[in-house]
This record gives sequence, structure tokens and C-alpha cells, in this order.
Amino acid sequence: MMQQVISKNTLFGGDNLALLRQHIATESIDLIYLDPPFNSKRNYNVLCKGEDRQDASSTLKAFKDTWPWSYEIEEQYQALTVQDTKVGTLLQALVSVKGRNQMMAYLVMMALRLIELYRVLKPTGSLYLHCDTTASHYLKLILDLLFGEERFQNELIWKRTHAHNDPQRFGHNTDRLLFYTKSTTFTFNPIFLPYTAKYLTASFRNQDARGRYRLVVLTAPGISEGASDNEWKGYRPSKSGQGRHWSIPKRIIHTLVGAEKAKILSIVEKLNLLEQAGYLVFSKNGVPSFKQYLHEMEGMPAQELWDDITPIASQANERLGYPTQKPLALLERIIQTSSKEGDLILDPFCGCGTTLHAAQQLGRAWLGIEKLPLAIELIKSRLYARFKLEAEKDYDFLV
Ligand SMILES: C[S@@+](CC[C@H](N)C(=O)[O-])C[C@H]1O[C@@H](n2cnc3c(N)ncnc32)[C@H](O)[C@@H]1O
Repeated sequence: MMQQVISKNTLFGGDNLALLRQHIATESIDLIYLDPPFNSKRNYNVLCKGEDRQDASSTLKAFKDTWPWSYEIEEQYQALTVQDTKVGTLLQALVSVKGRNQMMAYLVMMALRLIELYRVLKPTGSLYLHCDTTASHYLKLILDLLFGEERFQNELIWKRTHAHNDPQRFGHNTDRLLFYTKSTTFTFNPIFLPYTAKYLTASFRNQDARGRYRLVVLTAPGISEGASDNEWKGYRPSKSGQGRHWSIPKRIIHTLVGAEKAKILSIVEKLNLLEQAGYLVFSKNGVPSFKQYLHEMEGMPAQELWDDITPIASQANERLGYPTQKPLALLERIIQTSSKEGDLILDPFCGCGTTLHAAQQLGRAWLGIEKLPLAIELIKSRLYARFKLEAEKDYDFLV
């Protein structure tokens, strides 16, 4: 089927499987975030408010996150398994041991869509699948087969609520985001977070005229032959008794001489440079350490555990009343990390439009798909309230 590359911001109303197949061109998307139903076996009641509280009309609706093994699922399952793909074979194996149940029906629904999402992703693209532990282990199997295990980057754990009182088990208060890239070439802009007061007190305990600092070793474990074991001031890392090699902080060398000159400096020249600039101290045995100043640090690179993005508070301005609405800060982090300005972002389960809001704010182009009319109305009013964007005029709206 021929699809056109869509370059204008577009909101699609309808089922994402058909819309992906009809409209979204192969290898046309830079970043996909999807937050599908989780197979929670819940029905959601939706009490909605417009983003500007003036228009606080409320509507009560419901959508279901239950997945009976229907006639349609049986047909889709049969179609997947006759294709003789790895994903089809995986589903066949799972169904043969688990039977035709809700979880398997959910996986058939997801597999079909993940196959399409893999198709539309550019070779340099990234995908984040938001789920929880109900099905994350099964979804990872499907993604590993589509992308290859080696393209799995992270299983991010987002602490979505402070505490959950679950009787007779530990509180279930985190979601998972499975992060994959299509190849080894992809955008990744690291995010740096402020250090915690506890970490600062424990680590940056020294102070001199230049500022607060901590001492960092200039070597890393493992013996390495050649320049990274060169002797300097009588010290050779491989002979240290612990089998190490030189490991010199790149960023400070770049600051001192620039990235181009840094490339041609030898290890010994770099060590001399650090000493002349007053960055080194020596132990009694002559082992050098590096003074890492707090004011020269970018912060703590974000790790796999995301516990700093809080749930949307009940009175928060961004709250629209959509039950599965995600915080804007979560989408901003993903988009900032894994895309550049002007890139095209796709959210095929876009709910009340958090991804579209974040993409618009950060200067990215966006495509959103949502099947629930109530949610589509919320997206439209959100885009208008925040950016004065109107459907058909400022972005395409296709049903
Ligand atoms: C978990 S919510 C997404 C919430 C969203 N991340 C936000 O912040 O608002 C999942 C959404 O997917 C929609 N949905 C479910 N199946 C769909 C399908 N086949 N095609 C399009 N949308 C679908 C649901 O209506 C629901 O709004």
C-alpha cells in the first residue's frame, strides 16, 4: 500500500492499525511514544474538564481495557501466524501454552500495531513503549524480536505515584518504559538532573579557593596496553597492584584546550595540562587524583529510575481529567532526549494529547492517533487553549 510522507502536524481520529497502514509512510518517523491500554482489566470513567478552567464542562464516559478473545482477534491471530514471521511464531508458542485468553488477545492486538510502528520508524529512530508489569515481560519479547535484543536500550522505571496501598503485596506504584532504537545511529541528548543534597554532602566534601570539589581517580579497572598505560611521574596504572589504565575526564580537557586540540594530545600531555591547571593532588605514594569541582559539573545524568517526575496533582493546571493522562514533564524528557528540533514525533494512542502538547512546545512536528471522540475533543481544546492552534487551519484533522 502506498502511503504519503506526512509533513504537517496531523491528528487522526480512528483505529490506529488501519490509520498506520493507510497513511503513515515506511521509515518516516523519528520518534514514537506509545502509551497503549495496559490490559488492566478495568473500565475507565472519564470526568473531563477543559484545560482553561473557565470551560469546565464535564462529561461522563467510559472506555474499556479488557481484551476478550473475539472472532476478530482469532482472525488477526491466524493472519499473524500464517505469515511465518518470528512474532507470529512467538504468539503461536505462547497461545499453545497459555491458551486463548485475555492476555493473549491483548498481545495479538499489540503485536499487529508494533509491527506497523517498527515499519514506520526511520532507521535512526527511537521507540518508547509505556506499559506496566502486567504485560511488560511479554511486550519485551515482541520488541526484542522486531528490533533485535541488541537494540534494546533501557527499561525505564517511572515512579508514577508516591505510595500505593496494595493489600498483601508491596505497593504497585511504578510504570515501565521500554526504550528501543532501530539501529546504532540515533539521537540521544543526555539529560542532567540536580544532585541531591544527600549526595552533595557525602561526595563534595572538599573546598579550596576555586570552590567545592571531590577527588576522583584518574584510572579505570583493567589492564590496557599502549598509551593508556604510559608511565607518568613514576606511576604506571598497570603496576598499581590493581591492574588499571589511565582514564582522563574528557570534558575538562575540552574546556581547557578545545575539542579539536584535545584529539591530538597524548595521555602524558593531558596529565601535564591537568597538573598545570591545578586540577591534581597526589597521595603519599604519588598516585594522582583529579579535583572535580561542583560548579563545573553538568549535574547527575538521568538514570533508569525516574522518580523525580511527580504525578499530576489534583489541582494542577495541566490536569484535564482524562484518567490515564501522563505528566507533560515525562513526555518532555523523552522528546528532548531522543529527538531534535523539527523531527517528526508519532503517538498512536495519544489519549488527551500530552505527547502532541510536549512536541509542539519543543518545536517538533507531530502526528497523533486516537479513537475515542471524547479524547479527540480534549486534544483539540488543549491545543487551542495552550497554542491557539485550530484543527483544519493550523493542523490537519483526519477521520
Ligand atoms: C493510556 S491512554 C493514553 C494516554 C496519553 N498518554 C495521555 O497522556 O493522555 C490510551 C489511549 O489509547 C486509545 N486507544 C486504545 N486503542 C486504540 C486504537 N486501537 N486506536 C487508537 N486509539 C486507541 C484509548 O482511547 C486511550 O485514550
